[in-house]
Amino acid sequence: MKTTEQYRPLFETIALPNGIELDNRFVLSPMVTNSSTVEGYVTQEDLSYAKRRAHSAPLQITGSAYIEEYGQLFEYGFGIDDDHSIAGLKKLAQAMKKDGAKAIIQLTHAGRFSKISLKDFGVVYGPSEMNLKTPIEHTVLPMTKRKIRHVITQYADATRRAIQAGFDGIEISGAQRLLIQTFLSTFSNQRDDEYGAQSLENRSRFGIEVLQAVQKVIDEEAPADFILGYRGTPEETRGHEIGYSVEDFLYFMDQLMEVADIQYLATASWGKNIYKQTIRQGKFKGKWMNQVVFDHIAGRIPVMASGGINSPEKALEAFQFADMVGASTPFVTEPEFVTKLEAGREDEINLGFTQDELADLAIPERAFKDIVELMDIGGSLSDDTRKEFSKLRK
Ligand SMILES: Cc1cc2nc3c(=O)[nH]c(=O)nc-3n(C[C@H](O)[C@H](O)[C@H](O)COP(=O)(O)O)c2cc1C
Repeated sequence: MKTTEQYRPLFETIALPNGIELDNRFVLSPMVTNSSTVEGYVTQEDLSYAKRRAHSAPLQITGSAYIEEYGQLFEYGFGIDDDHSIAGLKKLAQAMKKDGAKAIIQLTHAGRFSKISLKDFGVVYGPSEMNLKTPIEHTVLPMTKRKIRHVITQYADATRRAIQAGFDGIEISGAQRLLIQTFLSTFSNQRDDEYGAQSLENRSRFGIEVLQAVQKVIDEEAPADFILGYRGTPEETRGHEIGYSVEDFLYFMDQLMEVADIQYLATASWGKNIYKQTIRQGKFKGKWMNQVVFDHIAGRIPVMASGGINSPEKALEAFQFADMVGASTPFVTEPEFVTKLEAGREDEINLGFTQDELADLAIPERAFKDIVELMDIGGSLSDDTRKEFSKLRK
């Protein structure tokens, strides 16, 4: 069968600025499956999960790989923080690439949300001190300039490891309140030095220096068509207060694009239907976030919409203001989302899940149920499906 007329635009090829051509506009967006070892190494379950989805989209991004132990959010996430991780990551890259997709590894530091750092070492880092109450009372340790330099070096080292492991690219995430975002945010950043809150230029500095450092490694060690992607949250607000505005974010993106050869921008945030979130404050108030970002980027690099795109109709809706559309949780239960849509079999797309599909879908059992609470935030999978996941091995 042929692709239904209205969905055909989603199946046009797209070339990244570096010339890499992708067969269609879908992206398997990052999602940690919490199935690696407690030391942060890739497991057989990780590999089976990736292989089962190798045909799901032409561009695929791994779940976050922490660049240092102090930046670890998921108990059974994988790391890229030391050379011992490379052997397993090599296998993961091969699994993702087995059907021709481009495999990108996401590099992250979760800053004050690094739950595992708090559990293992009793400390989390951020731009400035904060006193927090959950999960236990603790103080966020402000990063000294030495620590900032250290983390930037770790991003560079992680990039080197990603190249050695054979990934086609890296994605730096400054989205969803990870460390890079907290430097940009006036809620989290109260510093008074050159990385501090007095000016947007200063709040942007940490992110810019990270991108400069990874670009240097790419220039020196990666193949010419290596992909550098960036994931960002375009606005941060709390009620009427602004952590940073979309104007701030767009200024920041322009700076990043000046120091690094970014090949795409993915927009993301926590919440429901993020792909059609509207801007809360400032001169663009009420407009679709992705429209403002898309208009500003103006074709310089592809923009990827994500968050809540769990049906062909929503993919098409998101595509109005994006060059690519990303889905994370929908691919957990429907690895054939794109192939079915391409074949005009959209009626067969099924995001439901029953326990007897576990093996066929290669869904890891161990610790998977612990990530259901994050799935609840976006709600792209139904209540019933999430309930089934919660019943997985205790
Ligand atoms: C269990 C779980 C793990 C996630 N892990 C990551 C991650 O490692 N990196 C990341 O950038 N986003 C991560 N996300 C956020 C997703 O990429 C995405 O923004 C969110 O799930 C909404 O998109 P969806 O509706 O397509 O699922 C995660 C989300 C969930 C539910």
